[in-house]
Amino acid sequence: MTLRVGIAGLGTVGAGVVKVLRSKRRELVARAGRDIEIVAASARDSAKDRGIDLSGIAWEKDALSLAARSDVDVVVELVGGEEGVARQLVERALNAHKHVVTANKALLAHHGKALAASSERNGVALKFEAAICGGIPIVKALRESLISYDIGAVRGILNGTCNFILTQMESTGRAFADVLTEAQALGYAEADPTLDVGGGDTAHKLCLLASLAFGTEPDLDGIELTGIQGVRPADIAFAREFGFRIKLLGVARRTKDGIEQRVHPAMVRAGTPLAAVGSSFNAVVADAGEAGPFFFEGRGAGQSPTASAVVSDLVDVARGALGPAFGRPAAELVAPRRLGSDIRSSAYYLRFQVLDVPGVMAEISRHLANEKISIESMLQRGRAPGEPVAIVMITHDASHSAVVRALKAIAASDKVSEAPCMIPMEPV
Ligand code: NAP
Ligand code: HSE
Repeated sequence: MTLRVGIAGLGTVGAGVVKVLRSKRRELVARAGRDIEIVAASARDSAKDRGIDLSGIAWEKDALSLAARSDVDVVVELVGGEEGVARQLVERALNAHKHVVTANKALLAHHGKALAASSERNGVALKFEAAICGGIPIVKALRESLISYDIGAVRGILNGTCNFILTQMESTGRAFADVLTEAQALGYAEADPTLDVGGGDTAHKLCLLASLAFGTEPDLDGIELTGIQGVRPADIAFAREFGFRIKLLGVARRTKDGIEQRVHPAMVRAGTPLAAVGSSFNAVVADAGEAGPFFFEGRGAGQSPTASAVVSDLVDVARGALGPAFGRPAAELVAPRRLGSDIRSSAYYLRFQVLDVPGVMAEISRHLANEKISIESMLQRGRAPGEPVAIVMITHDASHSAVVRALKAIAASDKVSEAPCMIPMEPV
């Protein structure tokens, strides 16, 4: 019997899903054991040329109608957003006993546990492989393949737009805004790109990864968040001089004292696998104790990889591989105990924009010494008496909260011309 699909959203990902289902139909029948057919679709503008063949597919003006159609077995939600049509459609579809496949990490990060519970109550699947790192099969890996391991940490480069921007800034010296426009044109960026550059999109994916790995409920509010807007071309150049690259990382770690979740630009040592992940590629490292780190790399955004992940979920549904959304019943997902950032320590890259006047270095050193922060190396570039210059330092291991306090005190100095920049050095 054919699996009948209703698809909401025909943008970058939705149009890709239509293309894959149409172009790979025979192959998919062989894989799934039955045909997968799109019977109805919805988007805002029915007249838009999307470069796809929509013949034979019924058009629904109101996406929510897809949930009520008796000829739809599975609703594919590719509208996006944590509220509005996306949330209503998914809720209605589950309540109408229809399977749901979505690429919407914002929706799941905010409402994942409740939606997973609803899918279980209604005896249908809720699948979201495309929501985390597009084409990388990390959801299936954590939910099914790695279940015998005690995963201690999941971390990685989870946002293609940010990785594209940082890589392009490094290789071409182009400005942030210019590169962001290119990432948008390539279909990587979210409808609201501040979600990408502000780290929110990485946070959405990180809390879902943590949930899959640790059996905790998605805890978006427990994530400490810094985006890449404050990263300057100068930081990228200094990082290179010190032998590092700047990457936006999402890190979730399980410790005996609780779960740490953070998103921030990090200095990653050149020559390590994460540092080598360029362009819009994503990577996830799952630390599995004695089995060592598992490293997944691939395209995390863009039409084809993301659509392929959606289609793989549809094939699972067609095969009857349903199972709970997060790999265990929603009721068993426990609220995580949060690890406070005061317990954290690492080495830090610090950049100060200071007036080139006598005594400025002594003042910075005094504040760092007051917090017992020791300097491993230091650079000052340029000389401009009375004008702002950059002083850059790498510290030895220091407590996060001590560095924050020292920088606050330094920022208050009249010799400092802008807020200091701090970027943790990611251990290899
Ligand atoms: P997109 O290109 O902006 O497409 C969104 C689609 O939703 C458009 O077709 C739009 O219609 C439709 N839409 C918007 N409001 C609607 C409404 N009220 N009713 C019906 N349809 C509506 O977005 P996208 O990049 O494909 O992303 C879709 C989802 O996939 C998001 O959750 C995103 O986070 C996720 N995702 C995207 C990528 C990626 O690389 N792009 C990767 C992984 C996950 P019109 O076309 O008529 O305007
Ligand atoms: N905007 C997201 C990114 C899409 O750039 O990674 C994939 O989730």
